[in-house]
Amino acid sequence: MRQQVLAWLADNVPASRLQHILGVEQMAIALARHYHLDEEKAARAGLMHDLAKYFKPQKLLQMAQAEGLELDPVDIANPHLLHANVSAIVAREQFGIKDEEVLQAIKNHTLGSPGMDLLSCIVFLADSLEPGRGSTTELEKLRQISWQELHKAVWKTCDYSLKYLLDSRCLIHPRTIKTRNWAMEIADRKQSNQVKSQKSKVKNCFLE
Ligand SMILES: [Fe+2]
Ligand SMILES: [Fe+2]
Repeated sequence: MRQQVLAWLADNVPASRLQHILGVEQMAIALARHYHLDEEKAARAGLMHDLAKYFKPQKLLQMAQAEGLELDPVDIANPHLLHANVSAIVAREQFGIKDEEVLQAIKNHTLGSPGMDLLSCIVFLADSLEPGRGSTTELEKLRQISWQELHKAVWKTCDYSLKYLLDSRCLIHPRTIKTRNWAMEIADRKQSNQVKSQKSKVKNCFLE
């Protein structure tokens, strides 16, 4: 299966993109191992996340519409964003992927999705943070967080993308904001639970 996908990618994406794809595959596997998730699924989603990256805008729109996807005005203005959804269609049609978790992780790799599962979170993070993305202080910090707290890393990575989109005067897809709000809420909740349990430990100390 992996060899088949690699052969298809060699014909459909440039070598530089292939490097990125392999970087995402490796980082997704490593994160899956770290968080005790299915490494095989992470590898598949990582390897197939950008299958449609170089499809023409017209083709992306056509395939998304044929699939019955609900399109946001930002998708129509910038069909390139649909490459995530369309990559999942190619994974299913071309490579027979039926695992819903893997297909969802491919779909969610660019904009995320509020409520997405942990496999989607790690592929989303691997796409933005694989080593080929660079080694700025900000990226290194995000990588560090991704090994400590997944939802916090998703939140901070959304913030990082949003800053870039604002600075470069690009359209912002509402799903990026929804993903960011969702991940931030979960990260905050986890942190306040930790604080509560620390406080109750302190209380218990006094009681003893
Ligand atoms: Fe992508
Ligand atoms: Fe990618």
